Amino acid sequence: MHTSELATTLQRLYGTNGEALAGLMARYEQGLAAFGAEYGPGEVVILRAPGRVNLIGEHTDYNHGYVLPVALDKDVLVFARPRPDQQVRLANVEPAFTSRSFIISHDISPCPIGDWANYAQGAAQLLEREQGPGLRGFDALIDSAPPYGVPRGAGLSSSSALTVAMAVTLVALNGLNLQGEALADACGRAEWYVGTRGGIMDQFISILGQPGHALFLDCRPTTDGPAGARHYPFRQVPLPTGYAVVVADSQVRHRNTGPHFNRRVLEGRIGVRLLQARYPGITHLRDVNHLPWDELEPLLPEVIHTDELRARGIDPDALLDSGVGAQTDTFYVRRRCRHVITENNRVLESVAALERGDAQTFGRLLREAHASARDDYEISTPEIETLVRLAQAVPGTMGARLTGAGWGGCIVALVRQEETARFAEQVGAGYAQETGLDAQIFVCHSAAGAGEVIRTTV
Ligand code: GLA
Repeated sequence: MHTSELATTLQRLYGTNGEALAGLMARYEQGLAAFGAEYGPGEVVILRAPGRVNLIGEHTDYNHGYVLPVALDKDVLVFARPRPDQQVRLANVEPAFTSRSFIISHDISPCPIGDWANYAQGAAQLLEREQGPGLRGFDALIDSAPPYGVPRGAGLSSSSALTVAMAVTLVALNGLNLQGEALADACGRAEWYVGTRGGIMDQFISILGQPGHALFLDCRPTTDGPAGARHYPFRQVPLPTGYAVVVADSQVRHRNTGPHFNRRVLEGRIGVRLLQARYPGITHLRDVNHLPWDELEPLLPEVIHTDELRARGIDPDALLDSGVGAQTDTFYVRRRCRHVITENNRVLESVAALERGDAQTFGRLLREAHASARDDYEISTPEIETLVRLAQAVPGTMGARLTGAGWGGCIVALVRQEETARFAEQVGAGYAQETGLDAQIFVCHSAAGAGEVIRTTV
């Protein structure tokens, strides 16, 4: 491989130079050597898919609302070689992820919930159904190891990055004509295979991310895409100059495949059914953003149980797609809906603030979003509260909030550029002192979206 060609490509994708670039080059070269050791000499295609940090708009995507994520320079790398048959063999640079193999088909049996192969199988099954039949398989080595990989279970979308990485590999090796929005949409559906009814934010930002920008995405599909295809309106919003987006990882891990996530999805859907009594035309919480909360509140009980819902002709079991359950009969409808509705409006205000360069207002919205996620959506944890409190106390922090699905993971903060070193020092030391944990704190260097990096041989 031409080192200079790789260096130029990596510079473009990650926007890095000097030492950081040398580190990245070493990562790619080590991956290639490991691929050769695993599968023998021959051609290799390298592909990548980034994780993301969501600036604001949490748990709005599956309610057809608005989100504002940024693609990270932390990503999942795939070193791959096409096979003549439909087999997929997966190895991982991290020994904890033991090798997997499956045959691409219309119906690939899922591995137990949480297994890393499911993300590859979900992508393969969906593309085989929609773009097949007869997609070729591949041999691959996956690298999502620290410090360059997407930290797992940290709310930075490691799982979607893996789904997207597998999908772009299948697309590239099979020469499929599927990219951009249509590919992101397909990846969103592919991930349902793992048992979580998430939205489309993570897959869209992983594919459409642009350096220096956040993606303002409207998660309500329209049908005015090419040939009546589904289309999601989006636009790139420049990150404010003079400020850094800083991420602090609490080191407390979560899994979206547990029941909590689906329970929140269900509470939103129950809210819609209850609101339909007054507003029959609505289909998602997004449809009532513009209405005064005072009008909505009386229609949404603080708590409602399955028997009361059934008495009103609403069957909660029928509101989640078959095969997934919420494992509860108690639903906190009012506060969940209040979070989603107010959060959607905060995203709209944030985009306006960023587009006029108003970091002050954006910071206030971040703080309000955190309070709403903590009090109404109830997805914070004591460790996240500690991090947010420490972050807010640093001069130069405009605002801070939990980011991602919640129940652990990371916070995101907007910090004046010149205060980032102090932020890392103060928050890191305070967190260690209060919790005994070692928070990983890094500045988010936004990177390019997923795709093929380079073709070479080993
Ligand atoms: C997870 C899901 C996303 C989104 C976030 C919460 O990351 O995959 O679709 O719902 O949680 O905002």
